[in-house]
Amino acid sequence: MDSFSRRKMLMTGGALGAAGALAAASPAHARSLWTWSPSASVAGTGAGVDPEWVWDEEADPVLASVIDRGDVPRVNTLLKRWTRNDQPLPDGLPADLKEFMEHARQMPTWAEKAKLDRAAQFSKTKGIYVGALYGLGSGLMSTAIPREARAVYYSKGGADMKDRIAKTARLGYDIGDLDAYLPQGSMIVTAVKTRMVHAAVRHLLPQSPGWSQTSGTQKIPISQADIMVTWHSLATFVMRRMKEWGVRVSTADSDAYLHVWQVSAHMLGVADEYIPASWDAANAQSKQVLDPILAHSTEGEALTNVLLGIVAELDAGLTRPLISAFTRYTLGGDVGDMIGLSKQPVLEKLISTAWPLLVAFREGLVPLPAVPAVLWTLEEALRRFVLLFLAEGQPIAIDIPDVNRPS
Ligand code: HEM
Repeated sequence: MDSFSRRKMLMTGGALGAAGALAAASPAHARSLWTWSPSASVAGTGAGVDPEWVWDEEADPVLASVIDRGDVPRVNTLLKRWTRNDQPLPDGLPADLKEFMEHARQMPTWAEKAKLDRAAQFSKTKGIYVGALYGLGSGLMSTAIPREARAVYYSKGGADMKDRIAKTARLGYDIGDLDAYLPQGSMIVTAVKTRMVHAAVRHLLPQSPGWSQTSGTQKIPISQADIMVTWHSLATFVMRRMKEWGVRVSTADSDAYLHVWQVSAHMLGVADEYIPASWDAANAQSKQVLDPILAHSTEGEALTNVLLGIVAELDAGLTRPLISAFTRYTLGGDVGDMIGLSKQPVLEKLISTAWPLLVAFREGLVPLPAVPAVLWTLEEALRRFVLLFLAEGQPIAIDIPDVNRPS
């Protein structure tokens, strides 16, 4: 991190102690009643229990025990060697963890290879849109999801938020990798490791004073409802925006894209009864779990600055107003305000008129449009961001934490 953004982070970090105490006094954010029916899920049936009260009963006790036994450093060393989907688990893992992982690495019986292949082709062809939407859209939206922002802020990874925030956006992008779920790919490994990290965080965060003082009524973080909130901020949001922009998405492509995300939710430990079976079901669930909880949080604003700092590092901050305007256009002004994005009325108007034209041109639907030069600059900045920030070509290095962010 350069000295500018480090200073900025320290300043924002310093403000958090006081703000945390304030947040503790304010009521928890409203969440609507869970009425989404399991009949709309990939399971087609289920008990219909509110996922707000469901965590991960297979992973959580195992990871809690691994942490309490002091096994995390040894396990992390062994797990570094496990990188490919088809690779046997490393020798020497504790028996309980090995048993869990052998089970967790199994793909769901309903996974369809043809759809997964098609989804990968689709994500590749639409790489720039998908990448920009994950990185700037979903990545920044996550900072308006208070529970996620706080969990990330107060957990170990919060100490290096740039690295941390890059990883969730990268995971979205890696899901679209051509090899993702093929034997030589690494998405099964990444998903199982992430599931274990989330289980570790559930054990650790309740011990964090910073988290406990700001978590409201939630006593254990990362419920299945929370995971689906993030899922919608990635999958549902990206598909919706691509369609709104006029990106050509056939029904087969959109089904395939949904499928790769359904499989990924399952691999992250979400019960099949909460995974939407169709985009209609996904949109309905998103409306219920994501829309009402978007809100400002001090931790989220700190994360926003880190993410925008990453973009600024690519071009010394030249395009920051442009990126701010593009993100406000993508997320909507309300969310933009929530996360503290500066208003850019002129640029925002320009982008909302010209961006769909540029997309139509890239999709081969119209001849070269007369768009202001600044739009080409924007497109180039997005391309650079996607290439450098997201597509690093290496699987994300994921370690199980055994402590929270040092206070
Ligand atoms: C860790 C992705 C949902 C909080 C991770 C990591 C990934 C990831 C890839 C590993 C990164 C690392 O090693 O630093 C996802 C995806 C989600 C999801 C794809 C949903 C589809 C959530 C939710 C929360 C959350 C809902 C909180 C409400 C965290 C935290 C860590 C983590 C606190 C650990 C950071 C650390 O201390 O290292 N997640 N996540 N995640 N995630 Fe998630």
